[in-house]
Amino acid sequence: MLSFKEQFELMPNLKRFSVAVPEKLLEKFDSYIQKEGYPNRSKVIVDLINKTLIRDSWHKKEEVAGTIVLVFDHHKHNLSRKLTEIQHDFYEIIISSQHIHFSHDSCMEIIIVKGQADKILTLASKIRREKGIFHFEIVMTGTGDILHQTNH
Ligand code: NI
Repeated sequence: MLSFKEQFELMPNLKRFSVAVPEKLLEKFDSYIQKEGYPNRSKVIVDLINKTLIRDSWHKKEEVAGTIVLVFDHHKHNLSRKLTEIQHDFYEIIISSQHIHFSHDSCMEIIIVKGQADKILTLASKIRREKGIFHFEIVMTGTGDILHQTNH
């Protein structure tokens, strides 16, 4: 099997360009790359470009995908029912959801979403504003289209 570095270098249509960066910043960047085990600077730059494009597609209300993760109080009256009701209002953009009984007192729910970014953000804010949620996180990603176009 090819190493990460070999795979990267075999990617078609690679275009090289030079970047001017403050020296100190580059030193920090290089030590980060080493610490994280990236094969080279290019791989990190590609990841950053992808992240920027994904964030942009969320701002432009494009078709996106993501995951909403929440940990909430199992004993909070009506909260489970409310969360289910909210999700039913957004059934068109929810691909799947999983409920995990985390402990005696808390539950975790993972909701996988795909659709128009603004609808997903509306769903997210409705969930987030419920009382009894210990932790809320949304992971914004793309459906793969942007990444496919840019990486090949
Ligand atoms: Ni539970």
